[in-house]
Amino acid sequence: MYYFDNSATTLKKPDAVAQAVFHAIADGQLGNPARGSHTASLNALRLTESVRSKTADLFGASTVAFTANATAALNMVLKSLLTPEDHIITTVTEHNSVLRPLYQLEEQGAELSFVSIDEQGKLSYPEFAALLQTNTRAVVVNHASNVTGNAVDLERIGDFCSKNDLLFIVDASQSAGILDIAMRRQHIDVLCFTGHKGLYGPQGTGGICLGEKPLAFRPVFTGGSGFHSFDKKMPLDFPAIFEAGTQNVHGLAGLDAGIAHVQHIGIAEIGSRLDQLTRRFYGKIKDIPGITLYGCFDEKHRRAPVVSLNLADWSSGDLSDALFMDFDIAVRPGAHCAPLIHTAFGTERQGMVRFSFSTFNTLAEMDYGADALRQLAFI
Ligand SMILES: Cc1ncc(COP(=O)(O)O)c(C=O)c1O
Repeated sequence: MYYFDNSATTLKKPDAVAQAVFHAIADGQLGNPARGSHTASLNALRLTESVRSKTADLFGASTVAFTANATAALNMVLKSLLTPEDHIITTVTEHNSVLRPLYQLEEQGAELSFVSIDEQGKLSYPEFAALLQTNTRAVVVNHASNVTGNAVDLERIGDFCSKNDLLFIVDASQSAGILDIAMRRQHIDVLCFTGHKGLYGPQGTGGICLGEKPLAFRPVFTGGSGFHSFDKKMPLDFPAIFEAGTQNVHGLAGLDAGIAHVQHIGIAEIGSRLDQLTRRFYGKIKDIPGITLYGCFDEKHRRAPVVSLNLADWSSGDLSDALFMDFDIAVRPGAHCAPLIHTAFGTERQGMVRFSFSTFNTLAEMDYGADALRQLAFI
């Protein structure tokens, strides 16, 4: 199979990731972290803390809480920090893992404003200032759109947030391990990530990274913390406040290996390899008759390795099925859980076919995928 659905999850992982998960279980050395003083519990605690500090280093975070994925991280952060009195600025490019928690807050009284995009899917940056209200509390944006692959200018938005004393919350689901993230330089207060995409970790891993600013989180999910067991309330300390219950230590062992892989190659090198693949594919398909491409492919524009398209009036589902049945190509059709960007592009009914790449893809695969599209265009 030609796997071009890496924005959904990276299918091929470094061998070291599979080995790490295997050994985490097979060696029988990892107990429940922070639940005892025997060797197995301490081994698990040491492993968890080591992955925590490597993850913090990767993003320039002060500390990290682990969660099951970005969806859990975003839900916890948004519901923990924001209140019905708040106004929140977000964008039409967001994923439902941002939109749906925000809509729940809206039902409770919070106000939402959405920054729009231009015809290339780029944010209309002046709108951030224009949307500011006296009760604006936070800006929530994705670093890279899972639909167009366009990256946003985090420095610019972070600078705006810091000047206006707003919380800056970033969804790095499509950029962690792919694009440069430096929380301090980009003035990011909270960064939510998932482990199973560009970090090449196992599914079931992700987390919440904190910047420098101290934040008063409210518990939204409570349970066993391994300490203060007689308190009726969840401890408020970070990361304990978000880590109720047993951690996914076996998964974190795999995430550790995924992060090591990313650090070994280096974000700059990964970014340039992925850019080469994306631009090769884009270059080969851009003139196919009937093709519509979404996103900004200008040379200087930073982007995640995503190319979303439509071919004439094919439904994205039919085109994806044809790619799979006739060419053994795996892509993602439909709305990609990001409804507002489809409204902006007018693709609510057709959806889009998304090709997304990882460092395990090759230039030859780009040529194969482009050739398949060309053949389908002439049916
Ligand atoms: C931009 C964006 N945010 C959040 C998510 C949610 O990630 P997860 O499913 O790992 O929670 C995704 C997943 O595709 C995404 O693309």
